[in-house]
Amino acid sequence: KRVAILISGGGSNMVALARSMTRDHPARPCLVLANDPTAGGLTKAAEMGIPTAAVDHRPFGKDRAAFEAALTEAITPHAPDMLCLAGFMRVLTEGFVSQWQGRMLNIHPSLLPNYRGLHTHARAIEAGDAEAGCTVHEVTPALDDGPILGQARVPILPGDTPGDLAARVLEQEHLLYPAVLRRFAAGDRRPVFLPEPAG
Ligand code: GRF
Repeated sequence: KRVAILISGGGSNMVALARSMTRDHPARPCLVLANDPTAGGLTKAAEMGIPTAAVDHRPFGKDRAAFEAALTEAITPHAPDMLCLAGFMRVLTEGFVSQWQGRMLNIHPSLLPNYRGLHTHARAIEAGDAEAGCTVHEVTPALDDGPILGQARVPILPGDTPGDLAARVLEQEHLLYPAVLRRFAAGDRRPVFLPEPAG
């Protein structure tokens, strides 16, 4: 399976995914694409020998369809079998999603269905939750809403700032996403839950 990874920033999830696709893995990274030409993840991808591309969303203004046509133009030459959104911060239209439905994954830093959207860690702390975490799901037209393929849970500790919690969750993202991709690329749809049940 050829995997294109879409990023917007540092790409730490992209690095974790790329590193996980070793020779025994059913998938290979074929492209890292950013909506920001200055995204730090592009440099990391290039250092790993992965082809990169950038499609700056800003010149397209509100014309999401035109931006997505440019995305498709950048993606097509690399012939991916599936897409992984990894810290990708643009909302995709139903038109784009429908072309990739069933072959596009996303990681979201909350225990969906709780806390769709932004500022997930601050909201969980504010709500007094005991736990937080991250979710890998198939992308559907509704935001942060598709079938759940994996979740990782972490405790929220007294005194946690959103930054403290974000760091704790990010560590789990780097374990969860590769574990889900390995199963998904092999056609195994059993969900991954971390931490693994003891015993
Ligand atoms: C992080 O907030 C992560 O929780 C979310 O996207 C952001 C950046 O991730 N998935 P990355 O380091 O660019 O992968």
